[in-house]
Amino acid sequence: MDRDRLLRELSEFLRIPSVSTLPAHDDDCRAAAEWVAAELRRLGCSDVAFLGSEKHPVVWGVGPRVPGAPTLLLYGHYDVQPPDPLDEWTTPPFEPAVRDGRLYARGAADDKGQVFCLLKAIDANGRPPVNFRFLIEGEEEFGSKVLFDLLKREPQRTKVDVALVADMSYVAPGWPAVYTTLRGLCYAEITVRSAKSDLHSGEYGGAAPNAHEELARLLGRLKGEDGRINIPGFYGPVKRPSKAELAAWKRLPFKEKEFLAKRVQAKGLTGLKKYSVLERLWALPTFEIHGILGGFTGQGAKTVIPAEATAKVSLRLVPNQKLKTVQRQVAAAVKRFAPTHVTATVKFLHGADPAQIRLNDPAFKLLDQAFREVLGRGTVPARAGGSIPVVPALAAGGAPVILTGIGLPDDRLHAPDEKLDLKQLWDGIEVFKRFYELLGASR
Ligand code: BES
Ligand code: MN
Ligand code: MN
Repeated sequence: MDRDRLLRELSEFLRIPSVSTLPAHDDDCRAAAEWVAAELRRLGCSDVAFLGSEKHPVVWGVGPRVPGAPTLLLYGHYDVQPPDPLDEWTTPPFEPAVRDGRLYARGAADDKGQVFCLLKAIDANGRPPVNFRFLIEGEEEFGSKVLFDLLKREPQRTKVDVALVADMSYVAPGWPAVYTTLRGLCYAEITVRSAKSDLHSGEYGGAAPNAHEELARLLGRLKGEDGRINIPGFYGPVKRPSKAELAAWKRLPFKEKEFLAKRVQAKGLTGLKKYSVLERLWALPTFEIHGILGGFTGQGAKTVIPAEATAKVSLRLVPNQKLKTVQRQVAAAVKRFAPTHVTATVKFLHGADPAQIRLNDPAFKLLDQAFREVLGRGTVPARAGGSIPVVPALAAGGAPVILTGIGLPDDRLHAPDEKLDLKQLWDGIEVFKRFYELLGASR
């Protein structure tokens, strides 16, 4: 492998600021899609197409036909999250830089570095006898609606023997994983309107309702200090992991103290204290506030009673919860908890159902073997706290969906100084190369 050349090529991909949620970057998303398409053509794909391109296209490709060989669908995304706060990056997010064997850039781990790894493994050393299909999308970071609609219209695209999704991480250095669940997501804006317009806080303060105060109280009712989400019916379908699964998690190289000190870097952990941290992260739903808008936030002081306040929030969902049901429950709870003297509304921005994957297909053994041969350790089953909206739709086609990845838990996805350890990339190319060979030889 010519590592210098690979690093140059990946850096080129990472330099494209393909932030899918910001309209100012629409052309950049297109450029990233073109980069992927050129790569697929170079790999000999006959049928490279941009699909469902209302906004950011899904890049589709069909690899050279190998009669009798299994079909493998590779999924990934070329879009990235916004890079702000910019001044917290050591080097700029779209100027990839290597320090200490790590490549720093937005998208290094999530997910351009991993897409790169899947693609470069194909021709790392001859071509494995596999019929490749590619589905590399550009809207993963805001809900994957295009791809969702596409797969609904054209489900035959997922009629493959195996689908491989590399958009996750090892559970610890040296410990690769396959994931059995992903959490779902329900993203919403909750708005409280308390009066027709802002009011002087001297003239009206003490008698007029305050939108921020009402919103703060509403949010406090939706989720209590103890971490419990008080939305009626919300926990109904949530099942605890089996004893065997909880016992297996205890054997993973995960220490709550170290998680607090090294990764969270806060003064303490929060949430439902009677459950282990891994259970809270992997098997329980959440309610998080992402930001609160409205009122006076400029420089200096202004004495005003705000008439409107909006919170951007999301709930993570676990297996058996349904996005549609949760949306109804959230809307009903907001109505019920808001006092009658304000108007509270909810707008849903995007969402995803949770995913659950059984590890019974022989393909999981092949990936395990590939990791074992390259790293000396096979995959451990784990669950993921994050979401990949399209996974339930991929699984609906009937093929086993392998959820794995080459990142590390400290890659700082969505945050400043996102990185990918280069060792993870080089090992990853070897692992996927070996997996393709094993799969090709298996039928
Ligand atoms: N790669 C992540 C998902 C992920 C992260 C899975 C960590 C497992 C562990 C993905 O790109 C992502 O960030 N998804 C979003 C989806 C959302 C915006 C619809 C997420 O989870 O917030
Ligand atoms: Mn991702
Ligand atoms: Mn992401």
